[in-house]
Amino acid sequence: MDPGQAGLDYARQLDSKDKLRHLRDHFHIPTKAELSQTTLHASTPSRPGQDEPSTYLCGNSLGLQPKLTQKYMQQYLSTWATKGVYGHFKEVEDSELAPWLHVDDDCVPAMAKIVGAMESEVAVMQTLTANLHFMMASFYRPSKERHKIILEGKAFPSDHYAVESHIRHHNLDPTTSMVLLESFKPESSILETSHILSIIDAHASETALLLLPGIQFYTGQLFDINTITAHAQSKGITVGWDLAHAVGNVPLSLHDWNVDFAVWCTYKYLNCGPGSIGGCFVHERHGRVDEHPPSTPGGEPTFDYTPRLSGWWGSSKSSRFAMTNRFHPIPGAGGFQLSNPSVADTTALRASLDVFKQTDMSKLREKSLRLTAYLQTWLDVLAKELEGRLGRKCFGIITPRDAEQRGAQISVLLDDGLLDAVMESLEEDGIVVDERKPSVIRVAPAPLYNNHEDVFRFIEAFRSALNHALTEKESKESVMGNGGRGEKGWSEIK
Ligand SMILES: Cc1ncc(COP(=O)(O)O)c(C=O)c1O
Repeated sequence: MDPGQAGLDYARQLDSKDKLRHLRDHFHIPTKAELSQTTLHASTPSRPGQDEPSTYLCGNSLGLQPKLTQKYMQQYLSTWATKGVYGHFKEVEDSELAPWLHVDDDCVPAMAKIVGAMESEVAVMQTLTANLHFMMASFYRPSKERHKIILEGKAFPSDHYAVESHIRHHNLDPTTSMVLLESFKPESSILETSHILSIIDAHASETALLLLPGIQFYTGQLFDINTITAHAQSKGITVGWDLAHAVGNVPLSLHDWNVDFAVWCTYKYLNCGPGSIGGCFVHERHGRVDEHPPSTPGGEPTFDYTPRLSGWWGSSKSSRFAMTNRFHPIPGAGGFQLSNPSVADTTALRASLDVFKQTDMSKLREKSLRLTAYLQTWLDVLAKELEGRLGRKCFGIITPRDAEQRGAQISVLLDDGLLDAVMESLEEDGIVVDERKPSVIRVAPAPLYNNHEDVFRFIEAFRSALNHALTEKESKESVMGNGGRGEKGWSEIK
């Protein structure tokens, strides 16, 4: 039998045993024709096979749309059309959605489960970078002695800018107050836990805040949140996490890990659509609100709480519409909210969470471990096969090989000069992954909707994409000599 067909049959056999396979049906998977055409409704495909589903392995960037999203969006739009402003308060019998006044709270229980938090520790609000700013406004309070923020040298740019801007906002200098964690091995971007702890130790007495990603966006490295948080806190450092790539991807226990704060977006593994509403965790101990009775008869009670940038949505629901201008924070993360949330966004979140409610993060993680191991095995086979033929490696995995140190994503570093042609070929074959210049592709089988067949189809397409790219590169080099080389790729750094 053709080895490709045998591999596909085996992948399908594995998928038939998957207890979560029904969840895939809850998502719109674009067909190849839909992806390649420039209209919303694909016309009759010109090539055979174009009406088949694409192979979508890009949940690390933008998750697929749950089918429930359109249904719930329609309910929201109909409520707005038929109830107008009453939509804020009115229960609508034939809608699954909560009145708009409660749409954010309606999402909190399921969200809290996904991040391993008490419900009172989670708020659905704003967007990731905005939430990072709000959290730093509360939790980065530099003193003369403790003014530094430790973050990764290769942090996602938005995090870097946010940190830099807070340091400047306090009239401090990023060159002396920002500590950038770099890998001590030039050939790898992985930050070993022991190395992180040693950098924390080296700057402990001057550091106010440690900010790290749960999963690194480029390498896919999953950090040991528990150990790092405990170590930094033991030195008096506040610890925040950017969970953009971790939420909905790996199990989290933010409360038990005693994390001070965390922020995340919902458009990756949470499938809520581009730019959708973000999330925020504030540990119970920081969300406390102590009420003191009025000091004079007829006076007003006063409240002690963590300082914050406040808005009306963080003030007690019962007095929110009294317009008294007396801020009475909601205890917990809810008290850090500012604006009334976008109901369109929150409706999309509710649709996504309703799919998550059909399983749990530990079951998803089990499946994810299987899919990512399968992907790694096939990548190894392919790397060997090409090495046997070419006498050198033309790609390698830069994500940790230890499953405990990664989530769904595997990042593949290509030899220089291959990326554009590889991506072009993959796209042509209806395979969706994403690229990080100069030479990395990120491949992320999301356990909610991906399966072994997707992984196998990717491998087959990747093999032919590499062959095509290598041929193209060889012919370019033979015309130009070797002068057209780009930045360092796999063969030069390994
Ligand atoms: C790790 C990380 N941090 C921050 C951001 C920025 O998110 P937002 O645009 O929602 O603020 C992203 C976006 O992809 C990200 O991946």
